[in-house]
Amino acid sequence: MLTKVASVICFAACALLTIGCNGQNGAKVPETVTTKSNMSKTMVIYFSHAGENYSVGNIEEGNTKLVADYICELTGAARFEIKTNKYDNMDYKTCCDVAKAEAQKGELPPYEGSVPDMSAYDTVFIGGPVWWGTYPQVMFTFFRDCDLNGKTIVPFTTHEGSGLGRCVSDLKAVYPQAKVVGEFSLYGHEVRGGKAKVERWIENVTKRK
Ligand SMILES: Cc1cc2nc3c(=O)[nH]c(=O)nc-3n(C[C@H](O)[C@H](O)[C@H](O)COP(=O)(O)O)c2cc1C
Repeated sequence: MLTKVASVICFAACALLTIGCNGQNGAKVPETVTTKSNMSKTMVIYFSHAGENYSVGNIEEGNTKLVADYICELTGAARFEIKTNKYDNMDYKTCCDVAKAEAQKGELPPYEGSVPDMSAYDTVFIGGPVWWGTYPQVMFTFFRDCDLNGKTIVPFTTHEGSGLGRCVSDLKAVYPQAKVVGEFSLYGHEVRGGKAKVERWIENVTKRK
């Protein structure tokens, strides 16, 4: 019971800190970025955390991972998952505390494996959960190592109230020479019934010839 109350308080704090920062559900009017015919040059890069989470309980597949699945299925894009075992088996409250400390200290926790060769890709969908108002710190570790300047970046998030939070502005700061367009966000608890929303966004963001 105590854990549950603490979890709610923790998330309420998250929400208070971040609601109002660009909060939205669904795509803005996007710029078009790709065509079906060049989707082979598109990569989806994402981080997602399975396990206990706000609103959805204990999930085997993370919310953002499912959105990444939809995008790959709809577009045929390649995929790269930013992975770490740092948060494995953490309950929601502990994960919130750890992530908050990381964000406050600007920690860059390591990810598994190495950066993919991005030379063949001109469009990159980047997705993650909103953690304390922006992408999880491990994604920033990856951004440090993977130069996406010069590419077209399409940001997406799953969240529970913050929408895109600071993700778009943070991506623009990390990659000042990238074209950041067509951003999209979806509530985590809506992902499992939300494929049609993703489809509409992809339809809008994809220029069909
Ligand atoms: C550590 C942590 C911090 C979070 N911070 C926020 C937040 O600031 N704003 C928000 O709307 N949701 C927040 N959430 C909720 C997640 O963004 C949401 O549940 C998301 O869909 C999780 O995606 P995933 O399953 O792909 O990791 C947080 C969740 C966790 C675990």
